Amino acid sequence: MNIILLGAPGAGKGTQATRLSDRYGMPHISTGDIFRENIKNGTPIGLLAKSYTDKGQLVPDEVTCEIVKDRLAREDCKKGYLLDGFPRTIVQAEALDKFAKIDAVVNINIDFSLLMARLCGRRVCRECGESYHISTLGGATTCARCGGELYQRKDDNPETVQSRLNVYKDQTAPLIDYYTRKGILLNFTGTDDPPEVLFGQICAELDKMDR
Ligand code: AP5
Ligand code: MG
Repeated sequence: MNIILLGAPGAGKGTQATRLSDRYGMPHISTGDIFRENIKNGTPIGLLAKSYTDKGQLVPDEVTCEIVKDRLAREDCKKGYLLDGFPRTIVQAEALDKFAKIDAVVNINIDFSLLMARLCGRRVCRECGESYHISTLGGATTCARCGGELYQRKDDNPETVQSRLNVYKDQTAPLIDYYTRKGILLNFTGTDDPPEVLFGQICAELDKMDR
């Protein structure tokens, strides 16, 4: 199965992707994580990406599409993958159609009023990428999953979050229609119920598909 996770910043794409990756044994490919890794390592792609991610803007389509194309050509993607945060524009979706066959798009709809608090209170594990929220961490500074150090993403501040939400509305939300027309969109509602509730709903749908 080749799956796309679609949804606004903070909708829970990463949270669901780590669980889905464990359950179905598919690699979790997050373009945001790839850019953050490049920024950390000071690569040329990282230097370019930083100027966009710091402002909550999208990295140019050509660069992003090339990275994903290379990543999907690797051996671990042969039996399926989870794309988190790609595509994010119609141009990216059209490019993806040329080098991949997508089976389903998991779209997480969520009330925008929940997102600012979710993102500004998020902490992420430096080692495994698991997301937490300060409201449930009880002061913990290490990851319950792997013991890694938790940190706050540079783009998780009110000004950059607002810009990311605007970019989502303008450039990414049109993908909902794009994939509805292809007949592969699966709609879910993100809420503040524990992530396992949404995870169960997504698995119930994916389990019905051929693998
Ligand atoms: P990216 O890293 O993809 O960020 P994003 O899309 O803004 O999405 P987030 O990772 O912030 O949200 P999420 O949906 O994964 O939420 P999470 O599960 O963590 O991209 C970053 C940047 O990279 C972009 O701005 C852009 O510059 C660049 N980029 C990336 N892809 C690109 C592309 N294709 N083209 C061009 N540029 C690109 O959850 C959020 C919080 O909510 C956490 O604290 C979590 O614990 C909490 N939470 C989750 N579920 C629940 C729940 N059920 N109840 C309560 N809290 C919950
Ligand atoms: Mg994410």
